[in-house]
Amino acid sequence: MNKFKEGFLWGGATAANQFEGGWNAGGKGLSTADVMTGGTHTTPRRITPELEEGTYYPSHEAIDFYGHYKEDIKMFGEMGFKTFRMSINWSRIFPNGDDLEPSEEGLKFYDNVFDELKKYNIEPLVTISHYETPFGLTKKYNGWASREVIDCYIRYCETIFKRYKNKVKYWLTFNEINCLTIDFGAFMGGGILVKEGENSDQLRFQALHHQFIASAKAVKLGHEINPDFKIGCMIAYMTLYPYTCNPDDILLAQQKDQIQNGLCGDVQVRGHYPGFAKRYFEENNIKIRMEKDDENILREGCVDFYSFSYYMSNAVSTDPEKQETSGNLLGGIKNPYLKASDWGWQIDPKGLRWTLNHIYDRYQIPVMVVENGLGAVDVVEEDGTINDDYRIDYLRDHIVEMNEAVKDGVDLMGYTMWGCIDLVSASTGEMKKRYGFIYVDKDNEGTGTLERKPKKSFYWYKKVIESNGENLE
Ligand code: BG6
Repeated sequence: MNKFKEGFLWGGATAANQFEGGWNAGGKGLSTADVMTGGTHTTPRRITPELEEGTYYPSHEAIDFYGHYKEDIKMFGEMGFKTFRMSINWSRIFPNGDDLEPSEEGLKFYDNVFDELKKYNIEPLVTISHYETPFGLTKKYNGWASREVIDCYIRYCETIFKRYKNKVKYWLTFNEINCLTIDFGAFMGGGILVKEGENSDQLRFQALHHQFIASAKAVKLGHEINPDFKIGCMIAYMTLYPYTCNPDDILLAQQKDQIQNGLCGDVQVRGHYPGFAKRYFEENNIKIRMEKDDENILREGCVDFYSFSYYMSNAVSTDPEKQETSGNLLGGIKNPYLKASDWGWQIDPKGLRWTLNHIYDRYQIPVMVVENGLGAVDVVEEDGTINDDYRIDYLRDHIVEMNEAVKDGVDLMGYTMWGCIDLVSASTGEMKKRYGFIYVDKDNEGTGTLERKPKKSFYWYKKVIESNGENLE
């Protein structure tokens, strides 16, 4: 009862746009990620609709998994990964997004990757869309703001479901779909360019509706193609605590939790919009255009499991004087009981136990933690070692609390640590913000040999997996 279940899916997570590179190899088209420049913690990434000569675009080479996949998968195998979360670059399969025929070369690349994983008995967990929409869809339709994109996505799903029917069992329809509930997510999550003066809320929530429909259709289609497929949703869980027991703080925290975290899970797990959405839409002047059959589509496309990312928690306060801090997708109020990472994300292992219970109480379907990790600056010692004890501490503390949640009765399927190999940061475009068990020699400016090296945490995680989470020393 107290243990992680047999067959628990231990592993690591990545996203194509942040680690694959090969941005124009094999006929790949331009994606939204490919037009985002590098940035830093304090300088935001820019979106350049036309590629600029001399500007550095981190996704173009990333860490070149495209050219190193055999070496990388071998190292995942050495750690004993049971699963590997990766995404397919949609623009590698359909370069413009609305092409009628897929690229055979693109499809073949993923055949090779899945075959390589199979050699090490690693089960792929594939995110179909992870912050990478073919840029052609942005140009032509303003991305997910238009309903036309649903058909393009479904064509893409049908292609990969059929092709990898016997190679992939676990799928996630959209990475952090709830990023469309916040401003920051318009381009990354929806491929939407918001013009000055435009109502961003309206565009994003309409786009979110299109993604709900696309996700539901994909789930139904996937099950028709292979009834053994397990298809999940993926939510960026932004765990929120009321700063005080003042009922105003409590209510504000609940309202934010409903929209930012609850809305997407409710639609994707239960198959319909929750009651609170109506009031939110009315009060924020958002009018969702639905077609006649949409309610049925949502009802018929409920996901099999709930997956989420968890890095940190934030506090919520009605007091405008309270100090703020940054976080995954969204910042919040600083919590005096927590320490933070170098990027200001508040480290809260107990919050993971709380979140797992909160989610499982709400939905009662299997749950999976598909992202969790610490972005930190790593130092290569003179003898070549990388002693990332801070990362081991972070991960250990979270795994301990995950185990507590299992004891609490949560049906937990697996855990894929984010950025198991160093990769480009989604929010800042940096390499310096490293998450990996495997170090990659590359810096923020794109210089480096791309050599891979195991860090101390590599050997630690191997023991964790070998002992099914019992040995955390
Ligand atoms: C999640 C995303 O938001 O967090 C990943 O799904 C991302 O794509 C990860 O990389 C960590 O965020 P960051 O900004 O540190 O890369």
